[in-house]
Amino acid sequence: MTTNMFNTHAQSSKTLGRNPTPKVFNDTNELTTFIQRNLNNALDVNGETSYTNSFMIRITGNDLGFLFVPNLPVSYPLDSQLYMKIYAICSGILYPYKTLLPQTNAYFTPYDNDNPNLARAFFFPWVDGIPERLVIDNLDQFIRSQVTNTTIPIMANNISLNMNKVVHIAISGSSGSGKSQFTEYLIRCLHHSDKAIKLVLVDPKLSKIYKLGKELGIDVLSPKFGSNLNSFITEVNELLGKVINKIYERQQTLLTKPNTIFPKIYIVIDELLALVQGSSKQARETFAQLLGTIALLGRETNCSLILISQRFDAAAFGGNTAVREQINCACILGEINANTTQFLLPHTNVDSIVVPAGIGTGIIKFTDDNHNNRIIPLLTPTY
Ligand SMILES: Nc1ncnc2c1ncn2[C@@H]1O[C@H](COP(=O)(O)OP(=O)(O)OP(=O)(O)O)[C@@H](O)[C@H]1O
Ligand SMILES: [Mg+2]
Repeated sequence: MTTNMFNTHAQSSKTLGRNPTPKVFNDTNELTTFIQRNLNNALDVNGETSYTNSFMIRITGNDLGFLFVPNLPVSYPLDSQLYMKIYAICSGILYPYKTLLPQTNAYFTPYDNDNPNLARAFFFPWVDGIPERLVIDNLDQFIRSQVTNTTIPIMANNISLNMNKVVHIAISGSSGSGKSQFTEYLIRCLHHSDKAIKLVLVDPKLSKIYKLGKELGIDVLSPKFGSNLNSFITEVNELLGKVINKIYERQQTLLTKPNTIFPKIYIVIDELLALVQGSSKQARETFAQLLGTIALLGRETNCSLILISQRFDAAAFGGNTAVREQINCACILGEINANTTQFLLPHTNVDSIVVPAGIGTGIIKFTDDNHNNRIIPLLTPTY
């Protein structure tokens, strides 16, 4: 009964956890019944239930998710509100066997085209198990054996970032939530992954990233002792200006040789807010302009931003929120709620995402190997 669409995506099913369904549920029928029974109890749709044949639950052929199939006519609207309600109920009851992937709107899919009463269904994509943290004993050895020039592992069970797909990264979270620790991991991986990669680090706080830059011999910009904030942002602007010149150079090359693949340039800025705060309006506006240019032109010319900030409101970008729209990998660490996700994941209902507790946890939105946008709980590596 499942449509072809799910079979064509068979490869995109990833195993996230160590609790594959069959261990608890002997077959998909048991899991179907489990979901159905819980929805009958918790979903309040004018007293309609699966017992009255108002809807049925089906698991897709290759275990990519489940379908909610309404049997028309029903007394409730098939809208995003209903979708989110079902999502909220199921995301909790499926823990820890499945992790539902949140959607921003109702995800419709054709079901039984020959029967107008069953021609449509809601699709709820999931991945197996729950995300697990990478615990790394020997980081150097791990990086040497697991990191490639395109793949950076971020969680256990093969959850990784494909750096060919990731353009600009933003990492947010309150103080002490693990932003710098995660950034340090990414820098170490990138530094090793490809000798041609150029990393440029900016650390206004003169802390973790500064030390790391010195350790790895990477250019790192930090305020000099006694210098004022304004002179520091001016130095950063000069640096960004150089990167933009490089971008223009690359654009020229692309005009005559459109297939050129340039070595990646990563500009890592820890604590955006600390950088823009206290600087003059003029310096801030220049910064905003430069950052915006890199954000816009970076994809084609292989220049990426890795931005870290406690918040990503307009102030963090010096007023240029266009930068935010270019970010295609967003990590939010620490407490997850409508307030903390409003800037990086503005249209996502995060209420029902089961986020693990502890340091270095949150959620991540990224594009996976199969071009699917994913939002899943994040546990940053411990090393
Ligand atoms: N994945 C992790 N596993 C274990 N410990 C971690 C992890 N992430 C962070 N920590 C611990 O939490 C501490 C604070 O993390 P970090 O300095 O990265 O926070 P931050 O978000 O950058 O804070 P600030 O905004 O103050 O710079 C680290 O020194 C480290 O000890
Ligand atoms: Mg930090």
